[in-house]
Amino acid sequence: MILVTGGAGFIGSNFVLDWLAVEGTPIVNLDKLTYAGNIRNLASLESDARHLFVRGDIGDGELVARLLNEHRPRAIVHFATESHVDRSIHGPAEFVETNVVGTLGLLEAARAYWARMPAAEREGFRFLHVSTDEVYGSLEATDPAFSETTPYAPNSPYAASKAASDHLVRAYHHTYGLPTVTTNCSNNYGPFQFPEKLIPLVIVNALAGKPLPIYGDGRNVRDWLYVNDHCEAIRIALARGTPGETYNIGGSAERANVDVVTSICAILDELHREGAPHKNLIEYVTDRPGHDRRYAIDATKITRELGWSPKERFETGLRSTVAWYLDHMDWVQSVTSGEYRQWVAMNYGTRSVA
Ligand code: NAD
Ligand code: DAU
Repeated sequence: MILVTGGAGFIGSNFVLDWLAVEGTPIVNLDKLTYAGNIRNLASLESDARHLFVRGDIGDGELVARLLNEHRPRAIVHFATESHVDRSIHGPAEFVETNVVGTLGLLEAARAYWARMPAAEREGFRFLHVSTDEVYGSLEATDPAFSETTPYAPNSPYAASKAASDHLVRAYHHTYGLPTVTTNCSNNYGPFQFPEKLIPLVIVNALAGKPLPIYGDGRNVRDWLYVNDHCEAIRIALARGTPGETYNIGGSAERANVDVVTSICAILDELHREGAPHKNLIEYVTDRPGHDRRYAIDATKITRELGWSPKERFETGLRSTVAWYLDHMDWVQSVTSGEYRQWVAMNYGTRSVA
């Protein structure tokens, strides 16, 4: 039994599905179901007794303590987060509440539970904290990629809140001995990603004939990783990672945003001819404040020490992601609620981008 937080979000739900297919041991899935969480992602597990879904907040200490004591998990895998950089610029407080205070609450509950475990079980217990490469700040074009020893330099309220949570996790290991493992990953893409993030936003807008907004000059670079590769890396870090260590996870697939967007347009021209050429919808818009120029991950440590490396190539992963969205427009409709439309109006102004 493991306890997963945020398992109805993008990466969390992919992880839950992957875990049950590969490992097969039961999961308690604690998720608040914010706008970003969607229980429909887990519809295929409806009658699967190995998956117990609990709607709740990681900051609710009483609830977390009860779940830990009732289900006795051997690990906590912590995904629950406010995850969107643009939203953190409009409203940082919620990011501090969930990512920092929420993580602190979870660590406290984990520490109390772990302290009371029988010695043999204590040894094997893990608190796996899922984090991001954004804690390292921004790279110039010729800088070496982020390694685990790159100093923290978070630039957005989101990145700052994740950095704070990483520091708390580190401190709980150093001070109390809690067996933590932290992973810092680059940009993910794949099924079930909420269409506020670049790749799904562009797919969904292009299908609707709406503008494809590119911030600034479109030359900002991200290092893309297919979500299933991330899930596998987390499983491996959980099984073989050394307590107290951090592991960078990345796709070795650096791409400029404008190249990602034009690749999506080309795939859509082929798979969904209506509206082609889709690249005519590209619109350059005002840049994101404080927009980090480049992220790139050096994943040598996890490859060398734990034997993980990404399997999916960006071009094939992007193609299957576009195909997934084409096949799941009902899912898109169900997540683009009224709240989502309000967000779009606030972030992109009154232009009808999504
Ligand atoms: P997401 O926004 O899609 O999902 C977050 C989930 O957390 C949602 O299901 C939401 O309902 C839940 N949640 C939010 N606040 C909660 C709370 N207080 N209590 C319980 N549940 C709560 O996020 P994601 O993209 O799947 O990211 C998951 C993790 O991976 C995050 O820690 C993020 O920092 C990290 N990460 C994401 C990426 C990426 O590209 N998406 C890359 C690297 C790391
Ligand atoms: O690097 C890991 C991080 O990747 C995760 O920690 C975050 O949770 C995740 O949201 C993601 O952050 P980014 O800010 O890199 O992702 P996003 O999809 O928002 O943007 C990707 C790039 O595309 C970024 O340079 C901004 C740009 N962009 C984004 C949107 C939404 C646009 O040009 N236009 C847009 O409309």
